[in-house]
Amino acid sequence: MSIEITANDAVATRGHWSNRWAFILVMAGSAVGLGNIWRFPYMTGSNGGSAFVLVYLACLLAVGFSLLVAEIMLGRRARANSVTSFARVAHESGAHPLWGKVGWLSIVSVFCIFSFYTVVAGWVMEYTMRAAVGFAGITAEQASSGFKTLLSSPDILIFWHTVFVLMTGGVVIFGVTKGIERANCFMMPALFLILVSMLAYTMFSADLPAAFNFMFRFDIEKINQSVILSALGQAFFTLSVGNGTMIVYGSYLKSETAIPRTSLYVVAADTLIAIMAGLVIFAIVFAQGLKPDFGPGLLLGTLPLAFSTMPGGHLLGFSFFILVVFAAWTSSISMLEPLAALLIERFQFSRKKAVISICFCVWLVGIAACLSFNHWQDVTLFGLGAFDLLDSLSGKILMPLSGFLIAIFCGWIVKREVVRSELRLGDTAYFAWEWTIRIIAPIAILAIGINALQ
Ligand code: PHE
Repeated sequence: MSIEITANDAVATRGHWSNRWAFILVMAGSAVGLGNIWRFPYMTGSNGGSAFVLVYLACLLAVGFSLLVAEIMLGRRARANSVTSFARVAHESGAHPLWGKVGWLSIVSVFCIFSFYTVVAGWVMEYTMRAAVGFAGITAEQASSGFKTLLSSPDILIFWHTVFVLMTGGVVIFGVTKGIERANCFMMPALFLILVSMLAYTMFSADLPAAFNFMFRFDIEKINQSVILSALGQAFFTLSVGNGTMIVYGSYLKSETAIPRTSLYVVAADTLIAIMAGLVIFAIVFAQGLKPDFGPGLLLGTLPLAFSTMPGGHLLGFSFFILVVFAAWTSSISMLEPLAALLIERFQFSRKKAVISICFCVWLVGIAACLSFNHWQDVTLFGLGAFDLLDSLSGKILMPLSGFLIAIFCGWIVKREVVRSELRLGDTAYFAWEWTIRIIAPIAILAIGINALQ
């Protein structure tokens, strides 16, 4: 495959986002997902509220933002899938050919995440159906046992996982502009509107001041090593960095768009939505006298109980789960695209064949993840079932490792002229970005990696 291809040829043949706003929406669509609405609130709840929020914001700005800029820059420079992007930019900078192989790590990582993400999204689909019927009359006992019963029902898990894989494939098969961009341009504004209406509702019918106090009251004593590391891991996951996703989305970006400013909008939108989701959830939880430190079951095990007794809880519950489905859907779309782009560009698959083949593989692996909660509970590798294995392998090893290598690659290996011509930043801003990507990001990632492996 030829390495020399001009930027304009690539734009003409590969498709591209229609304009800067469409790009911001698809990037936000990838970033805003279960990470914001499911993980961020429960992590905030379990890590002492405001302490976690504060450190999380610092990590987003210090590490997440600079990596996001680096990934978009790589993709736009090479205008290719994540594997070819590394190879091209490494070649252009005269780097060791091994650097060209780093893209494969991101491919394995995104495949693992995609395979278990569709299972979690399937839980949300099941709860959306339950919310449509209404949670009226359920007890605390039923709310928390309802989730456990779901995990022990392989047929329901596999059914919704299958539906979600089909929904994702059904969008990506239509391509960059007609599929991905169109879906995001509808779902992201809808998600935002639902969230704003829910926030307005909680102002009148739930305990918003308590939620506000819990998330923002400055409480320095609660900051400790585990809070810092969880916040850093979350910053990574929420911005979808370390998976090639942002490289591939960046590769469809036109040359005139300013990467740093656009990335800043994406980080701002992602943070705003996570904070709004947190406020809505805690306002509801506190108004019902429930506890915020419920852990991963906060969304599915606690909220139905709250919706069952609130005025207007039926409509509210249903809208809320639709919002979560939209968030998960736009993120899973962004996981399929890097895999499809690889098959299309490196192995000359048609888009249709590429999407179908990947969806089939992800569906198979996802079935193992569904069964690991029930029939295959005893089938483990390193003590982990398929679901936990996919989660740990991607979250604790592949994502931090590829993020670390991207930081080193963009900070130290890629020629400075290349980076400067893509980023077009003034001297001070460039200097700040360069030292973050060279020093702060690698050290911070190394710290999460080492901690996670312990
Ligand atoms: N950022 C997404 C979320 O917050 C998850 C994601 C991870 C998306 C990796 C794409 C790639 O849910």
